[in-house]
Amino acid sequence: MDTVANNQSAAKADGKDTTLIYRQSRWTRLTHWIWAFSLFFMLLSGLQIFNARPQLYIGKQSGFEFNNTILEIGAENTTNGPRGFTEIFGHRFDTTGVLGWSGPPGQQTQRAFPAWATIPSYYDLGTARVVHFFFAWILTTTLLIWLIAGLINGHIRRDLAPRVSDLRKLPRDIVDHAKLKFHHTREYNTLQKMAYGGVLFVLLPLMIITGLAMSPSMNSVLPWLNEILGGRQTARTIHFTVMLLLVLFFFIHILMILAAGPINELRSIITGWYRTDPPAKHEQPTERSA
Ligand code: HEM
Repeated sequence: MDTVANNQSAAKADGKDTTLIYRQSRWTRLTHWIWAFSLFFMLLSGLQIFNARPQLYIGKQSGFEFNNTILEIGAENTTNGPRGFTEIFGHRFDTTGVLGWSGPPGQQTQRAFPAWATIPSYYDLGTARVVHFFFAWILTTTLLIWLIAGLINGHIRRDLAPRVSDLRKLPRDIVDHAKLKFHHTREYNTLQKMAYGGVLFVLLPLMIITGLAMSPSMNSVLPWLNEILGGRQTARTIHFTVMLLLVLFFFIHILMILAAGPINELRSIITGWYRTDPPAKHEQPTERSA
């Protein structure tokens, strides 16, 4: 198996006082691009599915006597014509043009998420569900492959498992990130470990579990799953919140890559090779950075 550990010696000195090291194994690279691709389709088809019922609720009860709606996207008639709105925890915002009421001038319609943010762009719940479930299985399988490969080749233990020293480095790391000062080393820094670990061990598994909890066929196989998540509607709300967190992660991820040096970062996640900073004068080269 191609592992980074087996390639510790694979470092190319290139006369620039920096070193190219083999940082990302082929399993990390392959699974990374498959889940990035899958999440794109899952997000857009998921928004189409949400459009079929553009409200989120908490709890197991529903009915006229309860008001457990925490989010609603809709449209209403006003003296200025139809307006789109988004209501979160009882606070209403005018979101005409994007959420609730959108479309080209003269052809605007009532829809929660606009046509450019959904797959398919027109209303078609059946197709959206087929796309969503297809990529959900690809994502789940890819995550399992990443987990098995990461346990075997040591990626999880070596690169992602938090250490006591990471906690000590955290304040310095936050200051460095705030100043957009990035160190190009073999290891992930503490914030990277927290962000990647959070995505791979918390957000994506939670996304899969809440997705399974919403499936009627799963309800008969694992009825307790729905119970422990607080009911189908709460599972749906968690699923949606995790989606928002993944979108937030995505934007920060891209910003950090642009700030840290996109060519070097992209080369590492495409080819595996990463250019590290020249060692500081007082530093002895270590087995990892050499
Ligand atoms: C939904 C989309 C994405 C998700 C969820 C995601 C998530 C992740 C995660 C979890 C890692 C760490 C992987 C590991 O160590 O096993 C990672 C690394 C990386 N990703 Fe993404 N990614 C996404 C999209 C992208 C895109 C579009 C790009 C490029 C423009 C990109 C570039 C990178 C790079 C360069 C690294 C290595 C970072 C480093 O070495 O510091 N990612 N990504």
